[in-house]
This record gives sequence, structure tokens and C-alpha cells, in this order.
Amino acid sequence: MTKKQLQDAELSSMLKSSIKLKSREGIEAPWLNLIDEDMEWWRDAKLGLFVHWGLYSMLGRGEWAMFNDKIPADDYANLAGQFNPQKWNPEEWANLAQEAGMRYSVMVTRHHDGFALWNSPGSYGRFDSMHSAAKRDFVQDYTDAFRQAGLRVGLYYSPMDWRFSGYFKPKELADNAALMKKQGYEQIRELTTRYGTIDILWYDGGWLAHSGSDADAAWFWEPVRLNEMVRSNQPKCVINPRSGWTGDFQCDEGPHDITGNIIPIDWEKCFTIAYHWSYEPEEKVMPLDDIIKIMIDCFVRGGNVLLNVAPNPDGEIPASQVERLKQIGAFMKKNGEAIYGTRPGPLEPVDHIYGMTCKGNHLYLHVQDMPVFDEMVLPAPPRQIVSCQLLDGSEVPFEQDEQGISIKVPKEKWQPLDTVIKLVVEP
Ligand code: GLC
Repeated sequence: MTKKQLQDAELSSMLKSSIKLKSREGIEAPWLNLIDEDMEWWRDAKLGLFVHWGLYSMLGRGEWAMFNDKIPADDYANLAGQFNPQKWNPEEWANLAQEAGMRYSVMVTRHHDGFALWNSPGSYGRFDSMHSAAKRDFVQDYTDAFRQAGLRVGLYYSPMDWRFSGYFKPKELADNAALMKKQGYEQIRELTTRYGTIDILWYDGGWLAHSGSDADAAWFWEPVRLNEMVRSNQPKCVINPRSGWTGDFQCDEGPHDITGNIIPIDWEKCFTIAYHWSYEPEEKVMPLDDIIKIMIDCFVRGGNVLLNVAPNPDGEIPASQVERLKQIGAFMKKNGEAIYGTRPGPLEPVDHIYGMTCKGNHLYLHVQDMPVFDEMVLPAPPRQIVSCQLLDGSEVPFEQDEQGISIKVPKEKWQPLDTVIKLVVEP
């Protein structure tokens, strides 16, 4: 997918969400924020699965198809009568997520088209999966399966809904817009009261008429009031910023490079493995090297990664995406010690060459460019190095003096994507 292929509103949705991570966007309401202790599991987890799947998957041209192709709401609603996935198997998704080394997941429960993937009495016109050909509560099945597999469970929810003309003219068509808002509050209440512990609530589309920012639309959505309800239902749920309130972490969207220093706030990058967020018959998948590069760039700067897959209308994750997830799993298995449960630093990353993570008195260098690194003298870490090894336990020669440290990894041990060097420092 190139920027050219995206239409105006969809493109600006993407661009507004690839924010400058240095600052927090949205309305401040510090009493809603989780305390450090409740954020720790999320900081430790590092990698999650994002899933875009719904009626739009049947059209095969992205989750914005209804809007982009100007499909009238009544015509679009007919898709529900055909939505009857034959291969729906959330246990399989959960197993795959685990095999990929993921520790949490976020499933789209309702996108901007308004179709709810659960039994939703609050849905305007009962546009939900219980009233589709499938007659199922997919959110129930998903939360059960993922929780059972030991993964933390997250829900994506878009308060905006293209079916309402009031979304586009919230002031002029205030009554209609109010119906949309009522639906949003009702559905968030359903999602946060009927499916057990929800670990992550991931809003999207808190803006109005596809313009301005989510915070600009706060007069309408009242995100603080909305999230006060969420907090009373789910006291420890990690909430993203896209409702217009700053939330518990910041989002960065899309596969662009992450460079520069460690970003000293909680943040997560989301991007799709499949060029579009939702299913396209042409199964293009991102090259493994590009995915891993972004992952390392995020981990060494303190970010999590939420990697999106795009199941087909039958509920299957296409083979090319499955293969990629398994390759990512192999990478995470090999290098997990230097990723899970770590924090970034103490050395600042050097773009495209190396970065660092740490856990207790273990420091992990993630080297992306061995030939350049091999010639470098690094600033000495704050504590004396006791030993230097690779993750396979083999010793690595190093020299430390007042100039810094130089580390000589034997050439045969150089890895193309991430050569991890473990430094044990004095406690
Ligand atoms: C973009 C897309 C939207 C998708 C979201 C995920 O904003 O426009 O459809 O759900 O990214 O973060």
C-alpha cells in the first residue's frame, strides 16, 4: 500500500496517528492514569498481536471500503447477512500469537463501519454479529481463547460510526450525533462489563468529520467521563490515547523508521504485516528483515510493538502472514532474554547501528550493523563490565579504558539483523 493509494480521509487518519512521540496528546486527567506498578506487565510484554477483521474483510479492499467507495449504509448492512466465517478458530489465532512470541493482543471489535463483533444490544439498529449470518459473539470467543492461552486480552473500539450523518456534521445534526455518542457509551459499557478482565482498551477514531485531532473532538465525546466509566469497570485496564484523553501510553502508527534517542514515556508502535490493515486477496506481506528492524528500533527506545494481521472473511490468517509470524517467533525465542522484561538503555541508541536494553545488572547490546560496530569505541556504561558474552554463552573479547569500550565479536558469530551482546556489569 502506498500513500498514493490511500484516499484523503484515510491518509490523514494515518498521518495524524504517526505522532511525534516526545509529547503527550490529549486532555490530561491524571487521576485516570494507571500507576507504574500496573503498567509493568505491559512494559515487560513488548510484542502484541493486532487483528483487523470484520465485514470489510469480505470486500477485500481495506477497512475503509465503505467510506472510500461511498457504499450506502443500507447496502453495506447487507454484508452482515453473508458474514458467516467457516474457519473461525480463535484458539488457533492464540496459539499462533504465542508461537510468534506475542504476550498480548488487540482485536478490532468494531471499526468505523459500525459493525459490532459481539452481541450488542447497544448497537444502533442491532448491527452486530449476533444478527449476522454467523449468529455468534466473536468477542466472547476471542476473549475466552486468548485468556485461556495465557495472553493478555485487548479490545479495539472506534466510537465514530460512518452510518451516522451526525458524525460528519455534529453541530448541525446534533440529534443524530447524540445517537452515535449514546451508542459509543453503551458499547464501551458492554465491552468493559461482559467479558471479564480487559487488559487493554484501544480506541481509534475519536475525532469528528475526519478532521482535527481526537482532543479537538473532546467537547463532543467527553473522553474523561467516558474513561471514568471504563476505570470503574476495569480499574487496571491499559488505555490508549485515541479517545481524546492522553491515556496510559502514546501510539505511533505505520512502518516508518524510528530513530533518535530513547523515548522516555510509555509508547507503542502499531503497523501491519500485510500492507493493508484488513484482508486483501493479493497476499502481500512485509519482508521479515524490515519487521525485525522496526522491532529492535522500538525495543531499544522503550517502545512496544503491536503487529497487525489481516484474516480472510472465513477467519483464517493467510499462510504468508502465518509464516512471517513464525519467523518472528523464532527471532523472539532466540533473543527473548534481551527483550522481554527489559527497559531501554543505559546507552542511547546510535541509529541503524546499535541500541541497548537492560534488566538488573545485565545490559544487552543489539547490534544491527556489525561491520560499523566492530570499528567503534562505545561510551563506557555507568558500571564496570564483569563479563561479555553472546546469548549462546560464548565469550566475547572486549577492552575497556577511559576512552570507552570496544567489543570484538568473532566474525562467524555476526548476525544479519541483531547480534545480541550481553554485558554483565557490577551490581
Ligand atoms: C489507521 C487506519 C485505521 C486503522 C488504524 C489502526 O488509522 O485508518 O483503519 O484501524 O490505523 O491503528
